[in-house]
Amino acid sequence: MATPNQPSQAHQVQIDPVNFAAKLSLIHDHWQPRVIAEMNDYQFKIVKIEGDFEWHRHTSTDEAFLVLEGTLRIDMRDRSVLVRAGELFVVARGVEHKPYAEHEVKMLLIEPRGVVNTGDATSARTAENDRWI
Ligand code: NI
Repeated sequence: MATPNQPSQAHQVQIDPVNFAAKLSLIHDHWQPRVIAEMNDYQFKIVKIEGDFEWHRHTSTDEAFLVLEGTLRIDMRDRSVLVRAGELFVVARGVEHKPYAEHEVKMLLIEPRGVVNTGDATSARTAENDRWI
C-alpha cells in the first residue's frame, strides 16, 4: 500500500499503455475510485458512479472530471453543469460540489495523490485511497 506523497510500487513498474475499457470492466461497484496511472504527484483514477453523492469541497486542490461514458451532473451551490462523454470539467479548489449520475457514469478523475473523494466531509462514502486496478 502506497503512503501519501510517496511514489507507489505500481508507479515504478507500469510499462504498458492503460486501456480504459479493460480497466473499467474490472470494476463492479460504484463510488470507489481506482488508480490506473500516476504522473509526478498526480493520480489518474477511474470510477463508476450512479445516483447522488454528498456535498464536499477540496480545500487544497482543484479536481478534474473527464467523462468516458454517460452524462455526469456536477451540482455547485450557484449552478449545475452537465459533463457528457468526451468532455472535461474542472472544479476549482474550495468550491462545494456534488456529483450526480441519473444513469451510470464512467469517468476519469485527475487529482493529486492523497485527495479524499469526500474532501472535507469524511463519512461512510469516503473511499479508500491508493487502490490500483
Ligand atoms: Ni470532489
